[in-house]
Amino acid sequence: MQSMKVLFLNGPNLNLLGQREPEVYGHETLADIEAKVRQRAAALKLAVDFRQSNLEGELVDWVQQAKGKFDVIVLNAAAYTHTSIALRDAIAAVEVPTIEIHLSNIHAREKFRQKSLIAPVCCGQITGFGPKSYLLALEASVDVKAKTN
Ligand code: DQA
Repeated sequence: MQSMKVLFLNGPNLNLLGQREPEVYGHETLADIEAKVRQRAAALKLAVDFRQSNLEGELVDWVQQAKGKFDVIVLNAAAYTHTSIALRDAIAAVEVPTIEIHLSNIHAREKFRQKSLIAPVCCGQITGFGPKSYLLALEASVDVKAKTN
């Protein structure tokens, strides 16, 4: 059996994790998080691709290209969560089950972060568990995939 493929997409400023507002986002870098995701994915026998972009259009392209290539998308859209109709439309268009994640709890922060434009087209949201949000999403991917079969 071919192993299930999960695409992790990270939006703007997540390349600065570790130095960026550590009181909110912690001290781990995105590379540290990727390493943990890869370790857990290997144990679960899942194939993982892990990417980051500061560009909205590049994230839209990656979502579009996921169709037929990935079973699940795990998306930390960062600030685009709250602004991007383009990203929301891309997720709705490709029909690849998408899990929304955040390091911080967006509902406990500023008003403008409490609204997610992508949430209605995602199968669920994991928010507020720091780097663990990525690992929880990996676990959830298995069930999401099973449901869509
Ligand atoms: C974030 C939350 C967003 O509001 C913010 O713009 C980010 C990171 C998180 O992971 O907590 O860049 O997505």
